[in-house]
Amino acid sequence: MPKPPFASKSGGSATVVIGNKSIELPISRGTIGPDVVDVRKLYSDGDVFTYDPGFTSTASCESAITYIDGDEGVLLYRGYPIEQLAEHSDFIEVCYLLLHGDLPSADQLKTFRNAITRHTMVHEQISMFFRGFRRDAHPMAVMCGVVGALSAFYHDSTDINDPMQRTIASHRMIAKMPTIAAMAYKYSIGQPFIYPQNNLNYSENFLRMCFAVPAEEHKSNPVLARALDRIFILHADHEQNASTSTVRLAGSSGANPFACIAAGIACLWGPAHGGANEAALKMLEEIGHVSRIPEYVARAKDKNSGFRLMGFGHRVYKNYDPRAKVMQQTCHEVLDELGIRNDPLLQVAMELEKIALNDPYFVEKKLYPNIDFYSGITLKALGFPTSMFTALFALARTVGWIAQWAEMIEDPSQKIGRPRQLYVGAPKRDYVPVHKR
Ligand code: SDX
Repeated sequence: MPKPPFASKSGGSATVVIGNKSIELPISRGTIGPDVVDVRKLYSDGDVFTYDPGFTSTASCESAITYIDGDEGVLLYRGYPIEQLAEHSDFIEVCYLLLHGDLPSADQLKTFRNAITRHTMVHEQISMFFRGFRRDAHPMAVMCGVVGALSAFYHDSTDINDPMQRTIASHRMIAKMPTIAAMAYKYSIGQPFIYPQNNLNYSENFLRMCFAVPAEEHKSNPVLARALDRIFILHADHEQNASTSTVRLAGSSGANPFACIAAGIACLWGPAHGGANEAALKMLEEIGHVSRIPEYVARAKDKNSGFRLMGFGHRVYKNYDPRAKVMQQTCHEVLDELGIRNDPLLQVAMELEKIALNDPYFVEKKLYPNIDFYSGITLKALGFPTSMFTALFALARTVGWIAQWAEMIEDPSQKIGRPRQLYVGAPKRDYVPVHKR
C-alpha cells in the first residue's frame, strides 16, 4: 500500500522547565487538527515521564487514514466526509479508500472487488471450531476464538515484512469476517452454515449467509442490503479508538495480522466501546416506555448509580456524532421499508434523545448520541439478535483495523509499544521469613 502523500512538518517548539532544567521539545504540525508536542526525548533529557491515563491528550502515532473533529462533529476517511461516502459510495469502495488512500478507478475497483469476493470462503476445517462452542456462546466470544485461529490456517499470509502477504491477509480478513460472523449466528440458532455466493455484493452476501435456509430460495431486499452497506461504511474506521489502538499495540510486537484483529475484537466487545450498541438496545428495552425516561435520565445523572445512558457521550465528539445522524436516517429508512411504523423502541429513543439534549447535565458535559444509539434499533429491525450487534461492528471495523495495522507496519519510525508508569507501590524492602511475619 503506497505511503500517504502527506507528512508532518515543524510547528516550532515548546519549552518544559523541570527544576533547573529547561528542555526544548519540537512541535509537529499535521494537515488539519491539533499540533503535537514531541515528548520522545523528555525522559532521556528530563528524567520524567508524561502522565495521561486513558490517553485523553496523547497522540500515539502519525496517521493519514481518518480525521475526527470532535467539536465540529467532523469525520473524514482519507479526507472524504463520512456523509458523502455514506450517500455516494459503497463499503467495498470505502475499504479500497481506507487501504490505499484514494478512491479507486473503475478498473481498480473491479479488481479489488473481485479479490475480496474470491476470499469469502473459509477453510472447511474452520467449521469444526464452532462445534466446540455451546450454542448459546456469545458471538463475540466465537469471533475472538475463530479469528485468532485463522493464523493456524493461512500461514502463507502471516509474514508481516512481506508486502504481498500483508495485502493477502488484508483481503482475507475483509472477505472472511462476514462469513465467520454469519457462521457464528447460524450456529447460535442451530441452523446449517450458508456458503457465500460470489454473484452477490458484500452486504447482500452477508444477509443471505445469515438469513437464507437450504429449504427455500432466499430473496434479498436491495433497500435493506443498501442500508446495511451504509451501516458498515459508518463503522469502518475511527482514528485511534480503543480497539484500533489495541490492534496497533499487538501489531507493534510483530504479531501476525489475524492475532492482531482478534485482539481488536476482544477490546471492541466492551460496553464502553463497541458493546454499547448491544447495551443501548437493552437499555431502551428496559426503559420500555417514554413515561419511564425521566427515571433513567435521573439515574444517569446520579454519580452513585453507576448507570450511564448507553449510546450517549464520546471521548472525542463533544458535538453530535456525524455517524449518528446518518444512522438515524438509515433507521427510519429500514423501519419504513419493513412497514414498522411505530416501533416502541424508536419512540423511546427519540424521546430520550430530545429530553437528554435539553437537560443541563448532558448539555454541560457535551453528551450527544453516538453511533451506537440508533444502530441497535436498525439491526434489530433487520432481523439480528442483540447479541450479534457488536459482531457486526467488528465485521465493519476490520478494514479500519487492518488499514491502521498496515500503516503502522510501513511507518519507518514504528517500534514496539511499551508505555511506562507512575509507580506508587512499596519502596524496596527485604524478604521476611514466614515465622517472623
Ligand atoms: C464507541 O473512541 C471511539 O472512537 C469509539 C467509537 C468508534 O467508532 O470506535 O466511536 C465507538 O465506542 C462509541 C462510544 C460507545 N459507548 C457508549 O455509548 C457508552 C456510554 N458512554 C460512556 O461510557 C462514555 O461517554 C464514553 C466511554 C463513550 C466516553 O467516556 P470518556 O470520554 O472517558 O468521558 P468520561 O467517562 O470521563 O465522562 C465525562 C463525564 C463524566 O462525568 P464527570 O465525572 O465529569 O462528572 O460525562 C459523564 C461521566 O460520568 N458521562 C455520562 C455518559 N458518558 C459520560 N453520564 C451519563 N451517561 C453517559 N453515557
